[in-house]
Amino acid sequence: MRVLLADDEETIAVTLRDALEEAGYEVVSAGDTDTALAALEAGGIDVVLTDIRMPGKGGMVVLSRSVELDPNRPVVIMTGFASMDQAVEAVDIGASFYVQKPFRNQAMVSMVDTLARLRELQLENTRLRGRLEASDGFRDVVGQSDAMRAVFERVRTVAPTDATVLIEGESGTGKERIALALHELSERGKGPFVPISCAALPESLLEAELFGSEKGAFTDSRKDRKGRFELADCGTLFLDDIDDMPLPVQVKLLRVLQERRFERLGGEKTHEVDIRVVAATKAPLRDLVREGRFREDLYYRVNVVPVNLPPLRERTGDVPLLVAHLIERHGRGREYRLSRTAMNAMERYPWPGNVRELENSVQRAIALAGKKLELAAEDLLPLDPRWRGATEVTGEIRPLRTIVKEAEAAHIARALESTGGHRMQTAELLGISRKVLWEKMRDLDLEAPGNS
Ligand SMILES: Nc1ncnc2c1ncn2[C@@H]1O[C@H](COP(=O)(O)OP(=O)(O)OP(=O)(O)O)[C@@H](O)[C@H]1O
Ligand SMILES: [Mg+2]
Repeated sequence: MRVLLADDEETIAVTLRDALEEAGYEVVSAGDTDTALAALEAGGIDVVLTDIRMPGKGGMVVLSRSVELDPNRPVVIMTGFASMDQAVEAVDIGASFYVQKPFRNQAMVSMVDTLARLRELQLENTRLRGRLEASDGFRDVVGQSDAMRAVFERVRTVAPTDATVLIEGESGTGKERIALALHELSERGKGPFVPISCAALPESLLEAELFGSEKGAFTDSRKDRKGRFELADCGTLFLDDIDDMPLPVQVKLLRVLQERRFERLGGEKTHEVDIRVVAATKAPLRDLVREGRFREDLYYRVNVVPVNLPPLRERTGDVPLLVAHLIERHGRGREYRLSRTAMNAMERYPWPGNVRELENSVQRAIALAGKKLELAAEDLLPLDPRWRGATEVTGEIRPLRTIVKEAEAAHIARALESTGGHRMQTAELLGISRKVLWEKMRDLDLEAPGNS
């Protein structure tokens, strides 16, 4: 929990700060009104402690602004010149407490403890509410980020129609889950949901799987077999990995999508089916069209309604919610939890394998937890100290210089990662010159990702 401590009186600024830090809080200090306001704007503050008389417009302004930004955040007013009127006014605006100086630091810390606990419950509640509202009606799918809310919204809108949907997203982002949700939220929900991966089978087998085959179509086919198109009749056909579909099969698929009719392999009879098609792709189909690996006419048939699932690293706000959900899914009723630092590390890690990787890591940590209920950061995240926070893993006291260096290296590495190795952008993000960045990378033995 992060506390903003706004006071121009040096003794308070220092001694209360120490007491709070000792109790485990992160303290942001401000010696005047403007600095306090800037800290509020910057975000991430959980509890506000503010003096009334300090340089600038004073603590009542800090109080008002805090309430404006987040009416649920506790604010404590500390003043050496308490007056009843002012106390009433402060509480009216939304202060939680009005405290007269001098006070004992320990009493103040206890008060912050209470407020911080309230705050935590509140945040948890908001999170739960957001989770229920955002993905209401979706089985086994959670998310509260703007990106996922947009996905839910779109799925709700198009599910009841028969429009073909193209889901685009990296591996493990939840494409199949969303395809299933489209099916379940539609009239066809009671009918079959038939998935087929276009990547798993060679061309001839894929054709037979999709369209079925008649006796004698292959040397060893002894009886007629229904294909997935027929099996999906009155339901939804999910064409997974459509980006891997061979061109000859694409031609045949195009015809079915246009006419909803086809023949089995080696058969003459034309079958008609009533299906809804949902397709998924890892690669943007537009690019494949340009490269001549995907038919343009088929592209337009498939890409009627696009749904884009962003990679997890672009919606880290979903991580705590997903972790809670996955613990529920795999925890066999036990209430596993993560420390705050472990959760922060989970939000920092870029999850190249997306939700599937997150799911695996939660399952692994549960398996390794034994009787403990707290999941360990070292079971959740890769070995690389960059992702675990080097200082926290060992817990031992080491020279400050080493710790600072490690933190610096980790931070620069992350910045480089986020810009794809672009030096100028990285330097800008970090607020240092390119020269300093270059020197630091050399001294810390860092390499930029990519070849820039
Ligand atoms: N929003 C979500 N909420 C809950 N679980 C999710 C979510 N997204 C994905 N998952 C889980 O993550 C795992 C991977 O999801 P899914 O199989 O749908 O991904 P995918 O995009 O089809 O991956 P691939 O491209 O590798 O086939 C599944 O176990 C799924 O339940
Ligand atoms: Mg899949």
